[in-house]
Amino acid sequence: MDIQDFIYKTTQLLPDLSTYASEAPSNIALVKYWGKFGEQLPKNTSISYTLSKCKTETKVILKHRIEATDQFSFEVFMDGEPKPTFKPKIETFLKRIEVYIPFLKSFDFEIHTHNTFPHSSGIASSASGMAALAKCFISMEASVNPQLTQEYRTHKASFLARLGSGSACRSIGGKLVVWGEHKAIEGSSNLFGVDYPYTVHEHFRDMRDSILLIDVGQKQVSSSVGHNLMHGHPFSEQRFLQANENVSKLTSILASGQLDDFFALVELEALSLHAMMMTSSPYFILMQPSTLAVIQKIWEFRTSENTPVGFTLDAGANVHVLYPASAASKVRYFIEEHLLPFCQGEQVIHDVIKF
Ligand code: PMV
Repeated sequence: MDIQDFIYKTTQLLPDLSTYASEAPSNIALVKYWGKFGEQLPKNTSISYTLSKCKTETKVILKHRIEATDQFSFEVFMDGEPKPTFKPKIETFLKRIEVYIPFLKSFDFEIHTHNTFPHSSGIASSASGMAALAKCFISMEASVNPQLTQEYRTHKASFLARLGSGSACRSIGGKLVVWGEHKAIEGSSNLFGVDYPYTVHEHFRDMRDSILLIDVGQKQVSSSVGHNLMHGHPFSEQRFLQANENVSKLTSILASGQLDDFFALVELEALSLHAMMMTSSPYFILMQPSTLAVIQKIWEFRTSENTPVGFTLDAGANVHVLYPASAASKVRYFIEEHLLPFCQGEQVIHDVIKF
C-alpha cells in the first residue's frame, strides 16, 4: 500500500451528524523510534508491545455547521473539562490528514477524551490519544463506505495516527507491532504499523509491564524537539543502524524464547535512546536519580534471585519493569518491597501484554 491508497475516494462525502467513539491502547517500544524524516517517517524500524490497561477512550461528536469556512471548528474536552491547550497539536494533525479525511471542515465538532491512566503521569498519552482519534475518523469514513475492508481500516487508522504522533501508529491494536521498513520483516512499512508476522515463543506471549511513576511532571523536552535533535547528531547514523540490527536480533530472540537475551537487548535499546538525548546539542538528562536507583535494584534482584526481569524507558524518568507471567508473584513482591519508595506517591501501574 502506498500514500495514494489512503486518499479519500468515497463518493458520498459527509458522514451523518452523530457520535463516533473508539479506544486505543498505549504501547511501549522494545526497539525505539527516535529520529524522523519527511512527513513523520521513521529513520529506523521500531517494535512495541501493546498494553491492555493503559488506553485512551475518545468520542467525536459531529454537529451541524451553519457555514463551512476554511478553518476547523472544534473543541476538546478531557474528562468533561475543556482543554484548549490540546488544540494546537490536534489542529496540526487535522491539517496533515485533510487530504485523507476531507470532510471535517463541514462540521462543528467536539472531541471528548479520557485516559485510563493519569494524564500527567509521564506515560505517553499522545500515542493512544492520536490513535483513538484516528480510529474515530476511520469509523466516520467507514459509515459512508461500509465496503472498506477491516485490513484497510486498520492500516489507514495507523497511517493517520502516525501523522499525529509517530509512535501512535503502533497503537491501533495487535500485540507486537512493527513500524518502519525492514528487510527482515515482511510487510513492514514506513507508512503504518503492522502486526509482527513471525513466531513468538510462549515466554514472550504473556508478559507483565509494571510502570513505576518516578516523575509525574510535565515532559522536559517534547518529542518533536527530541526527534529534531537527531538531525546533525554526531552519532545518529550509527544509532539508526544499531536499531535496525536490533530488530533483526529481536526476531531471533522472540523465536528462541531466550529471556536473558531479550532483557539485554531491550535494556540496551532504552539506554541507547537516553544516550542519544544526553549527547545531542542541547543535551538532556531525562532520567532522575530514582530512575538509576531502580535500575540498579532490578539488576541486583535479577542476579541474586535468578529471576527473568528487566526494564525499559520512554523519553522520561518512569521505568517500565518487564517480566513474564511465570515470574509475576516474585517480581510483584520485589516491586512492593523495594521499588515503591522510589515512585512519586508510591504510584505504579501494573499492565499486561497477553497474546
Ligand atoms: O511518537 P513520538 O513522536 O512522541 O515519539 C516517541 C518515541 C519514543 O516513545 C521515545 C520511543 C518509541 O519508539 O515509542
